[in-house]
Amino acid sequence: MKFGYFDDNACEYVITTPKTPLPWINYLGNKEFFSLISNTCGGYTFYKDAKLLRLTRYRYNNVPYDNNGKYFYIKDETDKANEVIWNPGWQPVKTTLDSYECRHGLGYSKFSSSKSDIKADVLTFVPMNDNCEVSKITITNNKKEDAKLVLFSYVEWCLWNADDDMKNFQRNLSTGEVEVTNDGATLFHKTEYRERRNHYAVYGVNTKVDGFDTSRDAFLGAYNGPDSPDAVAAGKCTGSVASGWSPIAAHQININLKPGESKTFIFTLGYIENPEDDKWESHGVINKKPAYALLDAYKTEEAFDKALAELNDYWKNLLGIYHVSSSNEKVDRMVNIWNQYQCMVTFNMSRSASYYESGIGRGMGFRDSCQDLLGFVHLIPDRARQRIIDIASTQFQDGSAYHQYQPLTKKGNSDIGSGFNDDPLWLIAGTSAYVRETGDLSILKEMVPFDNDMSVAKTLMDHLKCSFNFTATHKGPHGLPLIGRADWNDCLNLNCFSEHPGESFQTFGPSEGPVAESVFIAGMFVKYGEEYAQLAELLGDDAEAKRAREEIKKVYDAACTAGWDGEWFVRAYDANSNKVGSKECEEGQIFIEPQGFCVLAGIGVKEGLAEKALKSVEERLDTKYGVMILQPAYTKYHLELGEVSSYPPGYKENGGIFCHNNPWVSIAETVLGHGDRAFEIYKKTCPAYIEEISEVHCTEPYVYSQMVAGRDAKFFGQGKNSWLTGTAAWTFVNISQYILGVYPTHNGLSIDPCVPADFGDFTLTRKYRGATYNISVKQNGAQKGIKKLTVNGKEISGNIIPYEEGVKEYTVEAVMG
Ligand code: GLC
Ligand code: GLC
Repeated sequence: MKFGYFDDNACEYVITTPKTPLPWINYLGNKEFFSLISNTCGGYTFYKDAKLLRLTRYRYNNVPYDNNGKYFYIKDETDKANEVIWNPGWQPVKTTLDSYECRHGLGYSKFSSSKSDIKADVLTFVPMNDNCEVSKITITNNKKEDAKLVLFSYVEWCLWNADDDMKNFQRNLSTGEVEVTNDGATLFHKTEYRERRNHYAVYGVNTKVDGFDTSRDAFLGAYNGPDSPDAVAAGKCTGSVASGWSPIAAHQININLKPGESKTFIFTLGYIENPEDDKWESHGVINKKPAYALLDAYKTEEAFDKALAELNDYWKNLLGIYHVSSSNEKVDRMVNIWNQYQCMVTFNMSRSASYYESGIGRGMGFRDSCQDLLGFVHLIPDRARQRIIDIASTQFQDGSAYHQYQPLTKKGNSDIGSGFNDDPLWLIAGTSAYVRETGDLSILKEMVPFDNDMSVAKTLMDHLKCSFNFTATHKGPHGLPLIGRADWNDCLNLNCFSEHPGESFQTFGPSEGPVAESVFIAGMFVKYGEEYAQLAELLGDDAEAKRAREEIKKVYDAACTAGWDGEWFVRAYDANSNKVGSKECEEGQIFIEPQGFCVLAGIGVKEGLAEKALKSVEERLDTKYGVMILQPAYTKYHLELGEVSSYPPGYKENGGIFCHNNPWVSIAETVLGHGDRAFEIYKKTCPAYIEEISEVHCTEPYVYSQMVAGRDAKFFGQGKNSWLTGTAAWTFVNISQYILGVYPTHNGLSIDPCVPADFGDFTLTRKYRGATYNISVKQNGAQKGIKKLTVNGKEISGNIIPYEEGVKEYTVEAVMG
């Protein structure tokens, strides 16, 4: 069952009922100012950092869970006896609407609804170059008589630090401060501006208003929620000026419309920072000049439309960088629109703010952000470059790294610390992807601090060497890399032994157990160690490349021996040197991670182990909704394994379909040339392919979720934790570079698709290093292999299109077979 449909021409998902199984959200904002907006207008806004600079308040664990957005209320007083109050997004009043539509587009959301012949159109977005969210609302009278309406706006301010905001009431209920100008049309939130803050927020509208409120209790009434504000019921705001308690911003606009007449208003929610020496206009009165300039910039419809056109152009250009036309509409839709869009969002947000990540927990993850880069680097390489430097700056001199950092301060987060032994290698992955995309070797020579201390800075290449050496020098009894607190699987905590509730599985216990080893990190070391060696060669350091390959060989061999279980790769060795993920185990006999990663790294391909490993995945882990992370799921808590066994079977890391590592297996299948199987895996978790079962899947049908409940779970097939997941980047890498097969190498684009036998011919545009490649692929029913490759009319040997300085257009014809 569907709750909407894709409109590919408009690059929108059109939601046709507000009652989706879960809130279906969108993200507004591209650089520093961001909003989350659901299909019922719920959600919140922040500047740069979801925890530290939160503009509007959100209620976690609230019922309903989708709440406290930037709402508009329409009170229709035309027929005095039958007055009706409604919202264009249905919530929070939830009056049944006569029509409803929500279109989530690229960086904007649009609502069109009607009730009793009054139509409301709302369009909201964050402009490219200003720190604000603008909303245009048009109200149209389709009645046969004059309409008498009152429009209200409503936002509730957060007192900036979202974490403190929901805990420190004894202070916060006395700090709230606002200012009101233009008879209530412009409402300012200036809590803590009197002391150490130099920023405030503003909510203004481009018209005279008939009333306003800035105190929540005055507007809603002390016993009401946003679903039944007193002021709206009365048709009149109270003119409250908040002092302490809970500041809000609400406008009241009385509207009279002739039949057929429309009126449009533009609301701007902005964030303003003033220089320290220019904070005040006069004693206690904030300097509002920049706020007025911001509101002025969006006060006309022309300006609003122009800013929207800029946003649309921005996306059009970005999505022109990789564009496929095949006979598979769903592949085209995901590749050309939604998968890349999600890659941008994950790059911007890491795992901070979603409807499943509170924005107050983790900041940017070291491993997460490095992986997010893989799906983003082709879009805006310069931003990826900066991100790599930021991430590397949180590394320690021994190569280990803070697991997370706060985007506002860019400092490592010491609560969680380091000790996740896969982290260092992801830095190589991200850097290598950047250099392969751009050819920019200068990044490797940038001086980058360790732990943000510039006095101990070294080049980025030295950082990568530290990463490489960290793994090479932290190995256990079987010659496999030590796992530390955890590797990619945060929940495999082999050095933790937590016996008491409330202890963090990740940070409890010694981080650096000398015994527990990870076969997954072995796979990473082989894959990214080789990428490190190639970077060394590019810098002319052949001796280092040779040394690296000798180290890689040792780990490769260990993976094929101690890391091999007979039919698949072992997952790990625990702190007692017992196998994890082996047929010898009672539960958790096979894990997905080492099968996918070792094979995609090429381990065991020539020895025939790879084929066996992937067969075992198909036999033991596959389901109709995707490949499960492990089987059999743990039915009891294993002290020696940690959090993985804490989840009920079928959820999360305990046997869920963890979407993130499905593409690893799919890529692994392409390494073996199995196009049919690679694509089958791709399709199972692909949003566009499972749109039809939205009532089972529940999360948004246009983006990936972190997890789909596995076969052992009660709600098999149900998605959770949508949007912020490494799945976005990895599926894009999989479909764009391995299945469709256009892979950036250091020497140019390589063309080597691996598609199902019935995929058909396809064409592709790829912009790369300043040139445009128009690629056409004749498939001939082949799953893999190029038998002829012509570039600008000349046949070439091999798969790599040699990059020629100055050539701007490449016409590429590839014939498979
Ligand atoms: C979450 C984390 C990610 C981790 C994964 C598996 O998605 O963000 O870092 O690799 O879980 O535990
Ligand atoms: C929990 C989750 C895991 C996530 C981690 C983040 O362990 O199960 O998915 O990566 O928390 O700290």
